[in-house]
Amino acid sequence: MAITAPAAAVAAATAYEQLHVPALFRQFAPLLADAAGIGAGQRVLDVACGTGVVAREAAARVGDDGRVCGLDAAAGMLAVAAQLAPGVDWREGDACALPYADASFDAVTSQFGLMFFPDRARAAAEMLRVLVPGGRFAVAVWDALERSAGYPDLVDLLERRAGRAAADALRAPFVLGDRDALAALFRDAGASTVDVVTHHGTARFPSVRALVEADLRGWLPVMGVELDDDLVESLLAAAEPLLQPYVTPAGTVEFDAPAHLVSGRRATP
Ligand SMILES: C[S@@+](CC[C@H](N)C(=O)[O-])C[C@H]1O[C@@H](n2cnc3c(N)ncnc32)[C@H](O)[C@@H]1O
Repeated sequence: MAITAPAAAVAAATAYEQLHVPALFRQFAPLLADAAGIGAGQRVLDVACGTGVVAREAAARVGDDGRVCGLDAAAGMLAVAAQLAPGVDWREGDACALPYADASFDAVTSQFGLMFFPDRARAAAEMLRVLVPGGRFAVAVWDALERSAGYPDLVDLLERRAGRAAADALRAPFVLGDRDALAALFRDAGASTVDVVTHHGTARFPSVRALVEADLRGWLPVMGVELDDDLVESLLAAAEPLLQPYVTPAGTVEFDAPAHLVSGRRATP
């Protein structure tokens, strides 16, 4: 399906692919594919696929006899995804109302999207609905903010200098840190087996400026928060000393980025 998106949305998604994906997201894609048991010849759906880092991993594993679909709510993300992997079936849509038939996939993945879905229980039920009985799902979410290094300092800075809405936009990715609640979400949706494993990932950014700029100019606008240029510049300056503990001798920034990976199966009748 041809994907069209406004130039600004494509530019934002290109920046996401170039900075956030290598810094944070790419390392989890093989873990998700392993947990979902993705193998040759399978039909795989990646929900909230973004620019497609997990879908590309799945496509490499299913090979020519398999089929991969990637669904996202953001046309800009999909436009970039389609440039990078034209062989995947990309589609714009809502995770809470998947536009696919019942039992049409062998495996379903979703990486760092669940926290943004308006109805998470509905989305979990939808992932199970489109799986064949016995089919596997694997979903990744970030651990709680207080167990994620680097970001608590930034949230605190935003709260003090840019206000509650800006701080909440940066808190949003970390709201699903409770492992028991995560498991219950999928059990209640009808999964037959549910496991939650915490992986100790690492955030790796080229510099403090690159990290903070990506969040202020890239992430906050996605969450509906626009800061003026003077405020962004003053926040960038204030963040430098705050994040010094995470600066390596080479000048890059590295810190723990733990994530929970919940996986399981659709029950067999
Ligand atoms: C942090 S990105 C993760 C993207 C990708 N899975 C990755 O690992 O790079 C979150 C994605 O969730 C998508 N998203 C948010 N709400 C959605 C919804 N209701 N339905 C589908 N996608 C949604 C966003 O458009 C965005 O691409």
